[in-house]
Amino acid sequence: MQINSIEEYQETYKLSVDQPEQFWAGIADNFLWRKKWDKVLSWNFSEPNIKWFEGAKLNITENCLDRHLAENGDKPAIIWEPNDPTKDSITLSYKILHEQVCRFANVLKKNGVKKGDRVCIYMPMVPELAVAVLACARIGAVHSVVFGGFSAKSIADRINDAECKVVITADGAFRGNKQIQLKEVIDDALIGCPTVERVIVLTHTRTPVSMLKGRDIWWEDEIKLVDTNCPAEEMDAEDLLFILYTSGSTGKPKGVVHTIGGYMVYAGYTFSNVFHYQKDEVFFCTADIGWITGHSYIVYGPLSQGATTLMFEGIPTYPDASRMWQVVEKHKVNILYTAPTAIRSLMSFGLAPLNGIDMSSLRVLGSVGEPINEEAWHWFDENIGKGECPIVDTWWQTETGGIMISPIAFVTPTKPSFATLPLPGIQPILVDEKGVEIEGNGVNGNLCIKFPWPGMLRTTYGDHERCKLTYFSTYENLYFTGDGCLRDEDGYYRITGRVDDVINVSGHRIGTAEVENAINMHAGVVESAVVGFPHEVKGQGIYAFVIFPNIHDDADLTRKDILQTVTRVIGAIAKPDKILFVTGLPKTRSGKIMRRILRKIAEGDISNLGDISTLLDPTVVEEIIEKSKK
Ligand code: PRX
Repeated sequence: MQINSIEEYQETYKLSVDQPEQFWAGIADNFLWRKKWDKVLSWNFSEPNIKWFEGAKLNITENCLDRHLAENGDKPAIIWEPNDPTKDSITLSYKILHEQVCRFANVLKKNGVKKGDRVCIYMPMVPELAVAVLACARIGAVHSVVFGGFSAKSIADRINDAECKVVITADGAFRGNKQIQLKEVIDDALIGCPTVERVIVLTHTRTPVSMLKGRDIWWEDEIKLVDTNCPAEEMDAEDLLFILYTSGSTGKPKGVVHTIGGYMVYAGYTFSNVFHYQKDEVFFCTADIGWITGHSYIVYGPLSQGATTLMFEGIPTYPDASRMWQVVEKHKVNILYTAPTAIRSLMSFGLAPLNGIDMSSLRVLGSVGEPINEEAWHWFDENIGKGECPIVDTWWQTETGGIMISPIAFVTPTKPSFATLPLPGIQPILVDEKGVEIEGNGVNGNLCIKFPWPGMLRTTYGDHERCKLTYFSTYENLYFTGDGCLRDEDGYYRITGRVDDVINVSGHRIGTAEVENAINMHAGVVESAVVGFPHEVKGQGIYAFVIFPNIHDDADLTRKDILQTVTRVIGAIAKPDKILFVTGLPKTRSGKIMRRILRKIAEGDISNLGDISTLLDPTVVEEIIEKSKK
């Protein structure tokens, strides 16, 4: 299924558009099915109703584990590098991983988890996280992994939305020189989660934790009570595999739903092709499994292809800025898939951290999560790839399940900051505000996709209407990505950023409305408006304009108090970088905040604010500009 030349790409692309069903059936043939499909695809984007490989039966863990055992049982499946470089790394072969998954799947069963039940996973980046994810898939339970940086309230909202029955967590997590008290956060969250019957707690940091009788049990105790024999549950291709919550332009995060068959085919196909993965190579994706990148390119994509996937618990700058490169050297990483924000942050330390580190094992580099600026692209290319490793700038989303627009390593000629061309099966189109297609090259527009692909979301959990409204109603018969995009003279795509009220902070999506709601919960705040602004390392930062009439004496302390509230309500990742206290916000006569103006002010570009005559009170703009300069 690997494409090896640009001609082959063009032929494959043509086939994938002319005969999509034949094309995807051919790709799906490379996977293990208990029963093949009756129908490759049925779809409409109006409801939306999308079904791939209907009638097929499978279990994704048989694809990720069992099928590799005969020939590659002893091959490393997961290499784990701990936060602390003086501690040992761990390698799990396919055989061992299979055993651990089966054993833990039996723990879940013993604790009442059944096919279709939802399980929330809130864990550090340790091998047991991958084990927990796969154990759910083994028995047909639906996992909902929540990133370790979210607050108790965010977790509770997610648990309640999905009505999770079980939570899997750990005592704590190490992140650089910090420790995060995961179990304590879960304890706070569960005060308001009536559906949770069990909490399974892994020992990791050995911090003291409270264990509630009748609810909380230890991972280590439980696995002693079961054996490693756990036949995989037979699943329908369209059964749910997982829910992953992501921010949108409205307040509440949505549970993006992926189903088993299509997601597996898409994650596996894109992994194998985009990175040109070769047998026995070590693949290192630096994301956290709490995000879609980790789901698709630490767990399911690599394992479905029998690859060796490296899981890193720590952060690139701990204990110092050479750590990521040391991990590459230590484990002879061949493919490194990371985020522009990490590159920019490491770039700022200069070249000294690279001294004496042998990264000659590297063959392919990848970037994901946000637009990569040219400077970072060139730095990555010259200093890490030594000009010899193709960089695949992969554009995709939680909703797309896998990479959509990207170079294929060694196939597609790259161009700095361009995601280049759509992968086979992906039919992007650019439209104007009214949804009219913008044809030709050298044009800008809103990026939509006009034909289904196997990895696409099927619904948003518990609220199908929301899925329809968010993605399929802006433009008729199109999936709307929320991104703006340029198609240049060569037909290459460059993603220019979100066109909705979503901010991309260090490659993480944060809804402005979500942050505003959190700020507005702070006592004394009357109203707030949040926009993104360019940030050197994070890509975008969060700028909050806040109306707070009675700041007593210390405005700085009030700012810090507000940050505390945001941390409590959402998590530290949503903390504004700047808070400006104002007495009014620019609103239209109908009461709508004109974010366009605030965005300009946040960017420091006040020369051209556009027409402000429609504002209810144009003088507020002057006040905000004056204050923003201080
Ligand atoms: O704006 C795009 C940006 O990240 C958004 C998706 O975020 P999320 O669902 O969290 O998934 C991130 C990892 C797949 C997109 O709508 N984005 C993602 N990759 C790129 C990108 N922007 C520019 N270039 C990329 N390569």
